[in-house]
Amino acid sequence: MKILTAYFSRTGMNYAAGNIIELPVGNTEAAAKIIAELTGCGLYKIDRAEPYAFDYRECVAQAKEEFSQNIRPALRESAPDVSEYDAVILGYPNWCGTMPMPVWTFLESGDFKGKKIAPLCTNEGSGLGKSVADIAKLCPDAELLEGLSVRGCEVQDSRGDIERWLKRIKLL
Ligand SMILES: Cc1cc2nc3c(=O)[nH]c(=O)nc-3n(C[C@H](O)[C@H](O)[C@H](O)COP(=O)(O)O)c2cc1C
Repeated sequence: MKILTAYFSRTGMNYAAGNIIELPVGNTEAAAKIIAELTGCGLYKIDRAEPYAFDYRECVAQAKEEFSQNIRPALRESAPDVSEYDAVILGYPNWCGTMPMPVWTFLESGDFKGKKIAPLCTNEGSGLGKSVADIAKLCPDAELLEGLSVRGCEVQDSRGDIERWLKRIKLL
């Protein structure tokens, strides 16, 4: 089975366990690296061409503006051809209840027909939110696998949960 892990993750000031702290490595990126170690899969970082603000509140304002205007931000690097893969593990933070808009750009840029998509969402308490329903809408012909919610500030301790999830969904 050929697996790609495509993930969005932001460094900078972020909300974690009730405080605003600086994350030099994003939580989802840390989870994506654990997945790559476990599976040996390829990694693709879904980066917005124009980075989001370092400041947490400014970034929330940018994200809300993009959601309200239904914007598809340009990506820094074009996405790999998903037709070469059997499964895509999709990592993203929960932003205001769903995926950041660059992930929408990514999902609309490829043909996911018949591909397995396994969502992994890091968050500070909202779980997967409505992200799974949004993925289903964006990729109606994909096979959506069970998603995993990981508390962002506990990502370093989540290796066991990630490994068990990958085994449950038969990607490991
Ligand atoms: C713009 C923005 C919006 C967010 N909205 C939510 C939210 O609605 N619910 C939640 O539980 N966490 C929310 N968070 C927290 C992130 O989901 C969490 O910190 C995540 O682990 C960040 O992943 P990253 O470091 O890979 O970007 C938000 C963070 C940002 C920056």
